[in-house]
Amino acid sequence: MRVGLIGAGAVGTIHLEGYQKNPNCELVAIASRTFKHAKKAADKFNIPKVYLGEEWLNMLRNENLDVVSICTPNFLHASMTIEAIDNNINILCEKPICVSNKQLIEVEKRLKNKGIIFFTSFQKRYISFLPLIKKIIANEIIGKLLLVDYHFSHYGPYKSWQAISEE
Ligand SMILES: NC(=O)c1ccc[n+]([C@@H]2O[C@H](COP(=O)([O-])OP(=O)(O)OC[C@H]3O[C@@H](n4cnc5c(N)ncnc54)[C@H](OP(=O)(O)O)[C@@H]3O)[C@@H](O)[C@H]2O)c1
Repeated sequence: MRVGLIGAGAVGTIHLEGYQKNPNCELVAIASRTFKHAKKAADKFNIPKVYLGEEWLNMLRNENLDVVSICTPNFLHASMTIEAIDNNINILCEKPICVSNKQLIEVEKRLKNKGIIFFTSFQKRYISFLPLIKKIIANEIIGKLLLVDYHFSHYGPYKSWQAISEE
């Protein structure tokens, strides 16, 4: 798969590491706001093409991508997603997908009958114990649930979340 990525920040770097490990993926282009950040990521992950600022549009239109990762600030997700849909590119968009219900309805409308895969990073769904818990609940192994008290916390950005630009 020909892969492009927008946003050479903390989470973008994690996406790049994932694609690099996947033998079915070829990182062909990166788009970001700041030249230094985009260039640093491009050098580290051997990405041949760099696009800057609004040039992400050109990347989506010209690079014949199979998939794009959208790793920019939340307010940019909808416009980038819609452009990717219009160019028939499969999408891995960071969460949240959009910043308003109106945008979300628009994204959903444009995805209809397109035959492309849209996916958002709910990566915790793939932590092995969570599907197990889901199965236990669905099969009523522990009876009917009346209350769920769930705690999730961490101590802030992990070291591994660091943007490549901050290394
Ligand atoms: N799945 C998860 O668990 C998880 C965890 C944390 C965050 N997130 C999500 O990931 C997204 C990014 O968060 P982050 O922590 O990685 O933020 P970040 O480090 O600030 O990265 C955002 C990147 O977007 C780039 N950018 C900003 N405006 C742009 C534009 N107009 N065109 C192209 N690139 C642009 C910035 O470019 P430059 O650096 O080049 O200036 C920056 O590298 C957010 O939506 C956040 O909610 C998800």
